[in-house]
Amino acid sequence: MGGDWKKHFRFRISDFSHHPRSCKRLVLKSITLLKTIDSELLTNNFLPMTFQLPTLNYDYSALEPSMDAKTMKIHHTKHHQGYVNKANAVLKETEWAEKTTADILSHLEDLPPDIRVATKDNVGGVCNHSFFWNCISPDGGGKPTGELATAITDTFGSFEQFKKQFTAAATGQFGSGWAWLVEKDEKLEIIGTTNQDSPLALGYKRLLALDVWEHAYYLNYQNRRLDYINAFWNVVDWDFVAAQR
Ligand SMILES: [Fe+2]
Repeated sequence: MGGDWKKHFRFRISDFSHHPRSCKRLVLKSITLLKTIDSELLTNNFLPMTFQLPTLNYDYSALEPSMDAKTMKIHHTKHHQGYVNKANAVLKETEWAEKTTADILSHLEDLPPDIRVATKDNVGGVCNHSFFWNCISPDGGGKPTGELATAITDTFGSFEQFKKQFTAAATGQFGSGWAWLVEKDEKLEIIGTTNQDSPLALGYKRLLALDVWEHAYYLNYQNRRLDYINAFWNVVDWDFVAAQR
């Protein structure tokens, strides 16, 4: 999508003269532009330094009962914000400060050794969480449709088999980490990553993420990670997942 949003600027103020209908078009174009930029920032990690905490597209309570408001608020304003703060501190006054999270995570080997691990952990935390918030929605749940549904069936046998394998990956992720549906060379795959490691560093395109750090579920589900994973399926935004391919 990179750069596509610029096409929304291809109009002149004079095009709108004093005609009310033209003014309405200007407003609609502006709204489209803002939505596109917002999507680009959150979805494609076009997050220039300084990193900032993204605004969620829904209220903290909007995903209840699957994900409770208290956990969502602390997860977003404390944990995600913490990664934002540390990522900014680690890369401050370095040449990497102007790069996107995707650029950074795809070239970790080029970072100075003394900041490589802290960058992987904290820029990864920023990037993973920004993506995760978009994978869930109060309008989510159900099943994927269209080409994504076909690809999942072709790869895993059925949607139910896919859910079973993804759930197993998320449940079996040792300690803190993530479960992912990813794509490489037009092939779907389920993987797990440890801590805040990103599939971008492994050359994957991300389609779906599930945060299985305890901070994502402990307040509501205590140690019952499986219950949290089962509830996750109620809020998956399949339209967002399909749009990542
Ligand atoms: Fe998290």
